[in-house]
Amino acid sequence: MEPSPDAPLSPATRLVHTGRPPRTPGGPLNPPVELSTTLHAATDADGGADPDVVNYARSGVATWAALEDALGDLEAGTALVFGSGLAAVGAAVEVVLAERALTGATGPARVVAPVHGYSGTLSLLAHLRDTGRIDLVTVDPADTAALLASVPGADLVWAESPVNPTMEVTDLAAVAAAARATGARSVVDGTYATPLLQNPLALGVDVVVHSVTKAIAGHSDVLLGATVTADPDLAAALHAHRTRSGAVPGPFEAWLALRGLRTLDVRMERSQATAGLLAGRLLEHPLVHRVRYPGLPGDPGHQVASRQMSGYGSVLAVDLPDAATAERLAAGTRLWTNATSLGGVESLLERRRRHPGEVATVPEGLVRLSVGVENAEDLWADLRQALDAAAGA
Ligand SMILES: Cc1ncc(COP(=O)(O)O)c(C=O)c1O
Repeated sequence: MEPSPDAPLSPATRLVHTGRPPRTPGGPLNPPVELSTTLHAATDADGGADPDVVNYARSGVATWAALEDALGDLEAGTALVFGSGLAAVGAAVEVVLAERALTGATGPARVVAPVHGYSGTLSLLAHLRDTGRIDLVTVDPADTAALLASVPGADLVWAESPVNPTMEVTDLAAVAAAARATGARSVVDGTYATPLLQNPLALGVDVVVHSVTKAIAGHSDVLLGATVTADPDLAAALHAHRTRSGAVPGPFEAWLALRGLRTLDVRMERSQATAGLLAGRLLEHPLVHRVRYPGLPGDPGHQVASRQMSGYGSVLAVDLPDAATAERLAAGTRLWTNATSLGGVESLLERRRRHPGEVATVPEGLVRLSVGVENAEDLWADLRQALDAAAGA
């Protein structure tokens, strides 16, 4: 990015301008989709392969580097892209476990994680527990006192904020400080917030992970993940892990994700304004037992979210009386699509407990809504007719 002669640029501007080739007359504005698995050999002073020059596409691709520049700039750290969000989650866990093993520590590592959270992450942690690699302590992610009490003795404190799908908010600065004070690593899944609304590294967290698949890429057409850290040792370990495990994205996926990132600010602005509007209206609907959205002044996470986020995001959750009512709502919309995932331009909703892997304490009637960029009144009209129909059935 060209240096600014004036004040620091806002993230909305930076995400448009980072990760571009130099301004060369006749050169392209966008990075190329680099479709080459092998690169011309580079030789170091001793006549061997130069370890600082990439020679094979599992170690680095110019198109990834452009996306990594942009994500790293937004989070103020070193970003690495992975083949999926879950690959990034797994990489973050593995490097913390390896770091501990290299100190000579034996036996299972102790991991603190939220009782609710993305089911794929919780299932990965449960697998590590079941295979004897970790002791898993689960805590209410909104209960700061309980979280802090669980940190001493932990090797890794995992948080996700806001939480998928139950929308709790974790006090990230408090958790990061407690982890640092006791020598534990802290990792935060910031997928719901994106780097635009929340910067966990600035709150003292060691690694932030994102499912880029969601709002960053934003069009429900790319599977991709990222880790970002400001710690050079962790960045090197994550890079080595990625090359070793081969959990890499394709160049075209990285290119699409970067193209999506360019419009993240305008998409998020629209989606979260609509999410706030819908949250308030849903609260008033007689069928709705509860709305969870940190932007609502009465939401239990509102205070902490207002402190650590610059916006409340585009996802909310509603509790309906039971599974059947929730399924009627999901099946009764015409504009909203009954489908999993979130963060795309199209509005989606789904009853989370329809997935056998969802945590059993998530209410049967909880519906997750991912608000897209459609007209807010069109979205509300469709939701209201589906709610009215679900109530009348
Ligand atoms: C909060 C969160 N983290 C991680 C993931 C995993 O991302 P991916 O689907 O890109 O592997 C998801 C996917 O739903 C998610 O919602």
